[in-house]
Amino acid sequence: MARPGSRAPSALEPLPTGEDKTQRVRSMFDAIAPRYDLINRLMTFGLDQAWRRATVDALALPHGARVLDLACGTGDLSRLARRQGYQVVGADLSAGMLAANTTGTPLLEADSGCLPFPEGAFDGVVCGYALRNFTDLALALGETARVLRPGGRLAVLEVDAPASRTLRAGYDVWFHKVVPALGAALSDRDAYTYLPRSVAYLPAAPVLRRMLSQAGYSTVGIRPLAGGLSQLLMATRTGMT
Ligand SMILES: C[S@@+](CC[C@H](N)C(=O)[O-])C[C@H]1O[C@@H](n2cnc3c(N)ncnc32)[C@H](O)[C@@H]1O
Repeated sequence: MARPGSRAPSALEPLPTGEDKTQRVRSMFDAIAPRYDLINRLMTFGLDQAWRRATVDALALPHGARVLDLACGTGDLSRLARRQGYQVVGADLSAGMLAANTTGTPLLEADSGCLPFPEGAFDGVVCGYALRNFTDLALALGETARVLRPGGRLAVLEVDAPASRTLRAGYDVWFHKVVPALGAALSDRDAYTYLPRSVAYLPAAPVLRRMLSQAGYSTVGIRPLAGGLSQLLMATRTGMT
């Protein structure tokens, strides 16, 4: 069932940049929001929940810590962070994704490039599967550093590519063939064709490390999850704790 209104680029169009990317990403997530969670679970065989738990655990903050779920979407990370005893606020570009968010967390419609929070407002920031959707990644990472207190923790979950050739072959078929078919059947073909293509926006690990350092983070770590099906980026905001 194709949902009208998604403006994800078709497989034949080049990947968008600048304001065009922001608008298209917003419309695409507005359109796929109602079935986003269902397709996520099918697409990852439910493994995404374990990876999300690892992401929240990586914050390692005390009970009651203030945590921003950046690009929170329907709120899977927020839900787990709240269970950990954190005070969570969610922010996302897409009003449709926020409307489908039933976590009960305070929510704000906001762009990662211009977060509506003062400096040092949070002890932790989590962000799931969104880096490659940001129009200006350096700006977004700078904003996460700005809203974190010195010593605050960042934990980011993203897609990756497995190093093992066997796993990589299966991953390529799944991500590039099965996922778009699943999207076409249950939601929006263009959006779920864009998803694997959008990995091209994601810088390689050494570049991501450098960008995090330049944004104001120290002790940056990147850990593959499930043999590289996903990756977890962890960093600490530079400065005194
Ligand atoms: C793949 S979804 C991930 C949602 C959620 N974090 C999760 O783990 O399921 C990507 C999310 O990033 C949001 N997003 C994309 N660009 C954004 C931006 N520039 N600022 C804030 N949110 C953005 C989208 O609206 C969408 O909800």
